[in-house]
Amino acid sequence: MTPSDPTIRENLTTLQIHLRSQKNGRAGELSGVIEAIALAAKSIAHKVRRARIDDVLGAVGAQNLHGEEQQKLDVIADDLILHCLRERHDVAVFASEEQDEPVVLRPRSDGGRYCVVVDPLDGSSNVDVAVSVGTIFSILENDQPDETTDQAPLQPGTRQLAAGYVLYGSSVVMVFTMGEGVDMYVLDPVVGEFLLVQEGLRISEEKKIYSVNEAYVNDFEDGMRAYLDYAHGAGYGSRYIGSMVADVHRTLLKGGVFIYPATTKAPGGKLRLLYEGNPMAMLVEQAGGAAACGAGRILDVTPTKLHQRTPVIMGSSAEVAHVTRHA
Ligand code: AHG
Ligand code: MN
Ligand code: MN
Repeated sequence: MTPSDPTIRENLTTLQIHLRSQKNGRAGELSGVIEAIALAAKSIAHKVRRARIDDVLGAVGAQNLHGEEQQKLDVIADDLILHCLRERHDVAVFASEEQDEPVVLRPRSDGGRYCVVVDPLDGSSNVDVAVSVGTIFSILENDQPDETTDQAPLQPGTRQLAAGYVLYGSSVVMVFTMGEGVDMYVLDPVVGEFLLVQEGLRISEEKKIYSVNEAYVNDFEDGMRAYLDYAHGAGYGSRYIGSMVADVHRTLLKGGVFIYPATTKAPGGKLRLLYEGNPMAMLVEQAGGAAACGAGRILDVTPTKLHQRTPVIMGSSAEVAHVTRHA
């Protein structure tokens, strides 16, 4: 039997192979949950790609508890992720932007070890115009006795075991961390696998790009307006896609700062702490950046409500410092 041909350059390092090859014990323990999320993401990617061919666009005609028009794909994505996680024997509880309350699958005494919190489809209002959208996930230990399993999501972001996103963009990219650096995979539609393309992704220390919806500038606090005056005078570029996953992905790869600040109308900000702020903050910090909520570090906030909001200032550490110095 001749050894495999070393000249074959084909990248066939799949997510599963990479997770199983890591010495980090957590990779082995979490591999089932992460692979279940990756499976759901492949199915969501397929549905996003067929939007307008299949009748999956537009609103379902109902509002979610945030009073936001629920898009059909929000609900489809939520169902797919829950379906894939139900198959896992170690998932205790599933919490989602699209579910008013956490879904308890099994308590700790029945093997329920992990709590998975997701934004099933982030930026979903953009899917009708074929702009990038994504799925954001956060994995925590189920730290609760059986009778209060539904409380497991209410832990500070520093307790996350893993966090990541899947970006349904010009390619389907999965980026996640298990606390020892950030790895990036791209879905190869031919083999149907996420293939490892980068290990130990690092964000640049500084980059003159800011990403904020300036339409709301009149509702920004004085400090945020002062920061924008500074940026306008210091030769900054501006990029804003309007899908957090796309804006954060660009910030991770190119540097800069992504901001969704508190406003007079939304003093707590718009983005949700548990399934937008915390997972993205863990990723950015693991890549060497910073993630602030104005008053301090996003990951240090102890949540009291499942869907509570947080201001978000995250990206290159020097850029976050420029914002917090003014704000
Ligand atoms: P979601 O679709 O999960 O509700 O998230 C939308 C969020 C986030 O993706 C993005 O950063 C932000 O909404 C954009 O808000 P504006 O349209 O107010 O800028
Ligand atoms: Mn979102
Ligand atoms: Mn969403």
